Amino acid sequence: MRKNFGAKSYLYPKPVLIIATYGEDGTPDAMNAAWGCIADTDQIALYLSASHQTVRNILARKAFTVSVGTAQYETACDYVGLVSGKNVPDKVARAGFHTTRSEFVDAPLIDELPMALECRLISFDEDSELLLGRIVNASADESILNGAGQIDPDKLRPITYDSIHRTYRVLGEVVGRAYSDGKKLQ
Ligand SMILES: Cc1cc2nc3c(=O)[nH]c(=O)nc-3n(C[C@H](O)[C@H](O)[C@H](O)COP(=O)(O)O)c2cc1C
Repeated sequence: MRKNFGAKSYLYPKPVLIIATYGEDGTPDAMNAAWGCIADTDQIALYLSASHQTVRNILARKAFTVSVGTAQYETACDYVGLVSGKNVPDKVARAGFHTTRSEFVDAPLIDELPMALECRLISFDEDSELLLGRIVNASADESILNGAGQIDPDKLRPITYDSIHRTYRVLGEVVGRAYSDGKKLQ
């Protein structure tokens, strides 16, 4: 027997994306977004409420960065999802985050979050609240690279958002090889 839950946006895994922007006066802002995913090969799709300071900043600067939330900074990642830059202009500093300007777009990178996508705005639709961005660079701190120079998820320890239990979980172990294991059944 299956249990029906109705029209819920239940999904595993949901990401923890930390969207960082600059305000009009150059103050960095950041917010937590779980309603987002990669779209096409070099685009990202985010569903962002037009009321957020982040959206105002993106529309003004046409740029943003998307960092991956990590287990180490779970509390700070949650905090930036709780308060708005409209009411707490120094929320990034209060979260304990420090920022460095992206070399590629007019937006800040969060120093404590070692993996990020640096993006330019493609479009924002007020009705659907779908924001599309073009990824112009992906970057990672050397501290999370493996011997081959690739991002090591075991070092990054990305977290996912469980919207059913309102918890964060760390991404788990490798259980198989993609584009490979299925060949056994071909
Ligand atoms: C776990 C979590 C996930 C969230 N996901 C989204 C989301 O996908 N889209 C959105 O518009 N707001 C989302 N929020 C809410 C914003 O992060 C929050 O309203 C934030 O304070 C907005 O900040 P700003 O006004 O400084 O931009 C989420 C919050 C949390 C805690």
